[in-house]
Order: sequence, then C-alpha cells, then structure tokens
Amino acid sequence: MCGIIGVLGNHEVSPLLVESLKRLEYRGYDSAGIATVNNGKLDRRRAVGKLWNLSDLLVHEPLAGKSGIGHTRWATHGAATEGNAHPHRSGPVAVVHNGIIENFRELRAELAEAGITPETQTDTETVALLTRMFMDRGMDARAAAVETLGKLEGAFALLWLFDGEDDLMIAARKGSPLAIGHGDGEMFVGSDAIALAPMTDRITYLEEGDYAFITRAGAEIFDAAGRRANRDEQRIDLGQAQVEKGGYKHFMAKEIAEQPVVLADALRHYLPATGLNLPADLDFSNIDRIILIACGTAHYACAVAKYWFEEFARIPCEIDVASEFRYREPPLSERSLAIFVSQSGETADTLAALRYCSENVAKTVAVVNVPSSSIAREADIALPILAGVEVGVASTKAFTAQLLVLAVMALQAGRDRGQIDDATLAAHTEALRSLPGLLNQAMGLSEPIAKLAESLAEAQDILFLGRGPMYPLALEGALKLKEISYIHAEGYASGELKHGPIALIDRSVPVIVMAPHDRLFDKTVSNMQEVMARHGMVLLASDAKGLSVAGDGTWATLQMPEIAEPFAPILYAIPAQLLAYHTAVAKGTDVDQPRNLAKSVTVE
Ligand code: G6P
Repeated sequence: MCGIIGVLGNHEVSPLLVESLKRLEYRGYDSAGIATVNNGKLDRRRAVGKLWNLSDLLVHEPLAGKSGIGHTRWATHGAATEGNAHPHRSGPVAVVHNGIIENFRELRAELAEAGITPETQTDTETVALLTRMFMDRGMDARAAAVETLGKLEGAFALLWLFDGEDDLMIAARKGSPLAIGHGDGEMFVGSDAIALAPMTDRITYLEEGDYAFITRAGAEIFDAAGRRANRDEQRIDLGQAQVEKGGYKHFMAKEIAEQPVVLADALRHYLPATGLNLPADLDFSNIDRIILIACGTAHYACAVAKYWFEEFARIPCEIDVASEFRYREPPLSERSLAIFVSQSGETADTLAALRYCSENVAKTVAVVNVPSSSIAREADIALPILAGVEVGVASTKAFTAQLLVLAVMALQAGRDRGQIDDATLAAHTEALRSLPGLLNQAMGLSEPIAKLAESLAEAQDILFLGRGPMYPLALEGALKLKEISYIHAEGYASGELKHGPIALIDRSVPVIVMAPHDRLFDKTVSNMQEVMARHGMVLLASDAKGLSVAGDGTWATLQMPEIAEPFAPILYAIPAQLLAYHTAVAKGTDVDQPRNLAKSVTVE
C-alpha cells in the first residue's frame, strides 16, 4: 500500500525522493507526489498514475530544495486524482500518510465548526487542516503536530514538513511502520528500510505510538505518553534490501526462480543435519488446538498446513481468514496455539487477529518474512521464513517458504505429541530436504507452460482442481492467476466438482488439475473424466506415473518430478505460479503491480 519517504539532505532532494518512491512502487499505488522546502518555502507536485508521470511533471515544473517528503498513494478515501494525492497541504503544513484516520468524519465536523472546509475527499487532509488550525492558534509546528496526533484514531504512519522549516520533519507511527534512517549530517524517513537502502544502512524503527522530531542533527523520539524514548539504531543488511530484477523481465519471474535457493536457505536454518530446529519455547505437547490465521496467499499456506498438523500431530486445527476471525471473536482457550502467517508482517487484519488472541491463548507464533514487522514483534515467537525481499505483488517465494516453515512446525508438533515415529519423521525430513532439487527440475517447465499460456490467455474462466493438501494449492493457483492476468479463476476441491462448478464446463473452460500420483489420485482422475466427458479442456499436472495412467484425452500435460505425498503442494506451487505468470505475460498485464492490488495491506 502507500509508501512514505522523507529526506533532510545536503543535496537537491527531488530526484532522490522520486528514486526512493520507485523502490516503494512494489507496494502498489495509483498516484504519487512530493513536497520540498526551499529557502523556507514549501511547495509540492503531484501526479496520477505511475511515477513517470510525476517525473515528467518535475521536468517541466521542477521543485528545488534539500528537504522534502514523498508519497505513493493507494486510494482508500476518494478516487485516484491529483487533488486526492499526497502530500496534502494546508497553509504552512504538508503531510503524507499511510493507513486510515478512522475518525476523520468527526474531525471534519469539528473543523467545520471552526469554519474550516476540506478541499479533498481524503481522510489525510484532516491531519493537515488540524495541524494548521493549531498553528493558527499560536502553536509551533512541533506542538501543533503533537496536538493533532492526540485527536487521531485509526492506524497510520505520518510525516509532516513545514513552510519556513528547512530543517524539520515530524514523523509518527501508530499501526503502520515507519523507519528513521541516519546519514552523515542527513536524516531520512521511510515506510520501510527498502526505501532507505541506497542512502543508509543505519535504521531506527519507531515503536507503536511513537513520534519523532527529526532534524539534520538527529531524531528526538517520544513514546505515546510523550516521554523521551530511546530506540535502538540497527544496521540493516543492505543485501536483504536489494530490489533489483537481476536480468529478469519481472520481479515475479525472478522470485519464482529464486525458490530453490530460498528453500535451501530455510532448510539450512530449520532442518540442519541435527534435525528439526525450532525455538525451545515452541512446545506442542500441552496444546489441544491449533488456529492458523492469515490473509490471501498466506491463508492458503495455512490451509495446506492444516492437513500436515492433522496428519503428523493428530491435533485439531482450524484455519480462518483474519478479517473474519477478528470480528467473529471466536472462543479461545489457554490450550490453543495461534499461528499468524504473513509475508509483510503488517497486514492490518492479521495484526488485529493476533492482538485479539494474544491474551487468550497459550502462545502466539508469527511466521513472517520481515523480522522487524509489527506481527513479528507482537507475537510470543517469531519464525522468519528467510525468503528475502519479495517485490512482486503476487506472492510466490514467500508462499513456498511459509509452507516449508509450517511443515517443519507440523513435524515438530508430531514429535512433541508422540504421534510420529522416528522412521516416518526421518522419511519426511528427507523429503523436505529434496525440495530444492525438485523445485529446480520443475522450473524446467517454464518454457512449455509459456506455450500453453498463449491459449490460456484467451479464456474467460479457468478452474483449478485438487484433492487433499492439493486442494488449497488449487485455490492458490486460481488466486495467482486472477491477481495478475485478470482472468476469472476458481479453485475447487475435486470432489466438489459435481456440486456446482461442473455446470460451467464446456469447450472453452480450461480445467487445471494438480494431481500427483498419490492415494487419492484415482478419485481425482474420475473427476477429471467427468470434465473430459463434457468436452472440458483438461491440463493435468502430475508425475510420470500419473500421466501414464491418466494423460490420455487431456488437452495438455505437465510432467512433474515425483515427491513424497504430503509435500506435493510445495513442489506444485511452481507450475501454478508459472501458469499465472506466463498467462499474464501473454495478456500483457502489469505482472508486478497488478491493478488495484497492494503488496502490504495495512488497512482493513
Ligand atoms: C495482499 C497481497 C497478497 C498477500 C496478502 C497477505 O493481498 O497482494 O499477495 O498474500 O496481502 O499479505 P501478507 O503480507 O500478510 O502475507
């Protein structure tokens, strides 16, 4: 979602702001803008659409100044217009904002009583208007920003810049992350460390409720109660913040290809030669229920993991999407273990679900890709998936890395609860260790899939079918495809085909069947036959054995390497992702930044 950057520098800041915003493009946005202070004078430029529109504007209407803030906006309140784009300005105040000011209607009413009328449809403008109102009443910039903060409800990250103040930015964090970067006589602010990576590797993360007065000399940080707060300065690994395409046409293609290496890294950490390696305080022996909560692709990783926890540990396991879970307020018990899976670690609904659980379950565990994220910090135990920065909006390598960590957890649960014997555990760990090699082999399907994708790109609707742990993979395959190719796609449990979706089958509807030759294979083949009997266009992904039994009469086949049954979803994620990727490329859509989607969904 929205991205924030701020610089108090020693050089002209506009090019740096735009360059930094480019690094935040991956979060998803539909307009952008910057504001600078030049010799005390505040000014701004904003443009709808991609950042090149803002760059073009700056060529014709340059913005001088060594102090500035910038923003990429993902529209929530009000359409993606120039007027609604950030920075928002009122008199001497400019502000950029991530998140939502939930009480903005009440605040507008309050402003109206004071005779102040907003000019935009956004919630953010109220922040600028309030700050200005307080300044008009005699407060200085610092006092006015703090007074404004006291009135705001919701989840937000804010950054202010002021007319007449060449050496001041004010930052605040409540619910959305914000990082302060330290340079030599320069200071930076970013909505994540990725934005700051070219400028500095010295970062201070603001904590919940913190605000900071930033000058070139440093940052004074205060907690929610207004007390001076000491927050550590950390050195971040710039390698981790690399966001280059590395010769690939799209980040998504690069991230799909990275999966063998990502899984090898995660295996080295979680499954070294000595066996399962999870924190000692992660103990499943006294637990009677596992709850897995997430959104989007991470939710489908949870759905796969349910099969594993139930099979390996014989423990009841519930899964839910965070937005439902948090408002359903389900009964919890002190013998439940709640696992929250999130690539970004900032997804608003998942964070709220974690907060709902934190007092009421035995333990909360975060499975995240960003160890400094809110979800990682608020959970009792955080398990990093070690996937490296994921830029493509459609999650790929984070999905398989989440699956790997969850698989190791499920095996540990089986062992803690005495439900898995040594031989089975050894066979399963062996199978997990074989994954990087198998994923590498599966990458060889990229070319044949690219050819099939030319036909798939013509389809209006596509169905994905799977059984057992391949059912959630069918859901993920369909999600991936619709996210980036905009083709309507649905995933179904193969057994559900007759209960509705079969009505859709005709010559024009491709049906993608993900079916390794496992104990449920024959059942899936029967469902596939039902599709073919109605002239459905079946694409079967299976291993050599499966294809020899059931490949005849299909529209196309993809031969997958053999894999131990429970872990097939990790391997078959590769063709699912490649099908989505190549179909989107064939359609010419914006693969890395599909329309309307955001990478990190920090609002409900
Ligand atoms: C967005 C992204 C998805 C992602 C979901 C959950 O919708 O576009 O790719 O799966 O959020 O994000 P999280 O960071 O919590 O895994």
